[in-house]
Amino acid sequence: MGRLRFVNSAPLGFFDSGVGGLTVVRAVQDLLPNEDILYLGDTARLPYGSKSPEAIRRFAQEDARFLVDRGVKAIVVACNTATAHALPLLRESFDLPVIGVIEAGVESALRDPAVERVGIIATRGTIRSHAYQHALALKRTGLIIHAQEAPLLVPFVEEDWIDHPAAELVLKTYLEPLVEKGIDTLMLSCTHYPLLIPVLRRLLPESVRLVDSATTCAEHLKRELVRLDMLNSQKGEGGLEIHLTDLSEEFENLARRFLRKPSGRIQRAVLA
Ligand code: DGL
Repeated sequence: MGRLRFVNSAPLGFFDSGVGGLTVVRAVQDLLPNEDILYLGDTARLPYGSKSPEAIRRFAQEDARFLVDRGVKAIVVACNTATAHALPLLRESFDLPVIGVIEAGVESALRDPAVERVGIIATRGTIRSHAYQHALALKRTGLIIHAQEAPLLVPFVEEDWIDHPAAELVLKTYLEPLVEKGIDTLMLSCTHYPLLIPVLRRLLPESVRLVDSATTCAEHLKRELVRLDMLNSQKGEGGLEIHLTDLSEEFENLARRFLRKPSGRIQRAVLA
């Protein structure tokens, strides 16, 4: 089947297990301000990080279907766990560009030829999928990789306990083995972790480079849209439409924190 022709003025579709993927949206809005964005957060079924690979693949297909049915020109899987388990399946299932967060993060981590020891922190699901470990090892032989499951970090970020001593203790516990092994790069392989960057900077040796999946994904998306000649040529600022499968005041507040600005009206999504 030949690729369908997409209208460049169609929105970009993003999905995540919740509102964490708005860190990716924010980075894309900075880099591609005139693109329209349609965002789906599957808040009714989050977290994805502790679910089975089968469940995540099913959820991801339903999420992508919601966006495709609304005419998006490309899909950004703004969730590390969903990218880790479902990216190949989504690319097979949908006839439009599907961009994940892993490829971009790995490319960015390895851009520095001196990188030797890479640490990865992520949800349990992402670490156990080995998607990051495989992608890194495929691109650079001899790389030393240390992967650390960090399941407690998402709740700390969502509770806004980022500067709480309990969060610092948990972070130190996760980071200690990585620092002991002398990592030179730390991949923040979860949507929520960009909010932890100030604390991480304080806790890690200055020499450790941080690679977050939000900015790297935005840069990768821009390169892809240029390559495919799919940039939106409208002059004005693009719009953002947010749909969540479960709505609550907490999610609305969280969305504002992840976006660092008002989110506009959030709509309730019903998945097919
Ligand atoms: N969005 C998920 C990720 O990036 C984190 C939250 C969850 O576990 O659903 O892996």
